[in-house]
Amino acid sequence: MIIALIFIGLQFTTPSHTNPPFDEAQTLQGITNVPSDISALFARSCNDCHSNKTNWRWYTYVAPVSWLTVGHVNDGRAELNFSEWGRYGARMKETRLRAICEQCEKGAMPIASYAFVHQEVKLSRDEVRAICEWAKQEGQRLISK
Ligand code: HEC
Repeated sequence: MIIALIFIGLQFTTPSHTNPPFDEAQTLQGITNVPSDISALFARSCNDCHSNKTNWRWYTYVAPVSWLTVGHVNDGRAELNFSEWGRYGARMKETRLRAICEQCEKGAMPIASYAFVHQEVKLSRDEVRAICEWAKQEGQRLISK
């Protein structure tokens, strides 16, 4: 009984689930030349935490899972937001591109708990290679501009 009451009480502590509006022209896809297969990988494996297009599944509304998921999304967006790519200066874009490749190569992204629940988001070696190749090309294009 007590446990049930605590559980219900916890539900009032859930932080807010947001998907702030954004300008399509300022997204990664709007600004850079992202091949559709790379864009699809980001959509499949990264967008939930690195865009303003989070698919907030029902369980993300249930505390205490909600604290973790909302925290991941807020922290993820703060580090890298594909929906707001246009806000980054050239230097920031370059470090983000490098970090994207690094994180995928290390297997650090998508984060483990999320990949555990959603097996389909895991990246194969070929997919990681494709992301890194694109990130390098895009980085070079930035420098040569
Ligand atoms: C379930 C949420 C989630 C998903 C999915 C996810 N990330 Fe992240 N990402 C985070 C969080 C949280 C952080 C910030 C804290 C950290 O570095 O662990 C982060 C940080 C990052 C950073 C910044 C790291 C740094 O040190 O500069 C990059 C780059 C990144 N993620 C890339 C990706 C890419 C690429 C994908 C898809 C292949 C992805 N992430 C998928 C949650 C996620």
